[in-house]
Amino acid sequence: MRNRCDIGRYDSYFFADRERGYRLKEDIKKRRVAILASILPDPESLFQIIALNHLVRENGAGKTILIIPYLGYARQDRLCHPGEGSLGIMIVKLLQSMKPFRLLLIDVHSQRIRKAFPPFAIEQSALPLFAGVLSKHPPDVVVAPDAGFLSKAEELAKMMKSHPGVGMIEKVRPRPNVAIARHLHGDVREKSVLLVDDMIDTGGTLAEAVRLVLEKGARSIRLAATHGIFSKNARERLSRLPVEEILTTNTLPQVRHPKIRVLDMVPSLLRRVEYF
Ligand code: R5P
Repeated sequence: MRNRCDIGRYDSYFFADRERGYRLKEDIKKRRVAILASILPDPESLFQIIALNHLVRENGAGKTILIIPYLGYARQDRLCHPGEGSLGIMIVKLLQSMKPFRLLLIDVHSQRIRKAFPPFAIEQSALPLFAGVLSKHPPDVVVAPDAGFLSKAEELAKMMKSHPGVGMIEKVRPRPNVAIARHLHGDVREKSVLLVDDMIDTGGTLAEAVRLVLEKGARSIRLAATHGIFSKNARERLSRLPVEEILTTNTLPQVRHPKIRVLDMVPSLLRRVEYF
């Protein structure tokens, strides 16, 4: 960064009834302040971002920048069934109402979420990082495990000098958290395949995709997904499969695993923030 960047400290405490309080331990008057936190399934994580944003503004910060590496709830980006709600869109609107100078997000789930972005929102992608590390041994084909990720798979393929082919799987979800890979568009026979998605949650989508590309004769398989949620036994589920490597990033905390390579998003985020 051009200027020194300090890590701001704050205390957090509870009232007897579990109401939460925060206290900044820094003088942030007129300083540029970035709040960096993913929105996790636990609503407390969203509350913390709202509260800290309020605190820094009330205490006289200069420009505030919200950096949300993983935007949870983004899969709920539309009204699927009567009585439900687009909570992902609601969260984007909430972040907008906090009026940061910039809102920086990483690989959000869908075009619907992108369309709800306020003008000061910027999306950063892990795809250039993936392209960089894959350039040593580029795949022959990049495959999207569902139609929703096809355009991103094409984007990734274009970033690679080797110009890999692109394929796509037709995925269906007979019920929540269950994915079935129905049909593969593209040729993977005797080819090295990269399956790429925005997130790994239960691992069901990619496990099914692996099954199908193996069935279609893939020679080798690697997986890549920006957000490694790894719910339940997803790490083990995927690493048991005949895949060479699983690439993910540190948009969410990760544990060490012999098959999982965690790429660091921080340098590219800092490069971006430097110009705000
Ligand atoms: C779905 O549209 C997403 O892009 C991911 O494919 C999905 O959320 C991954 O979830 P899981 O790992 O549970 O299949």
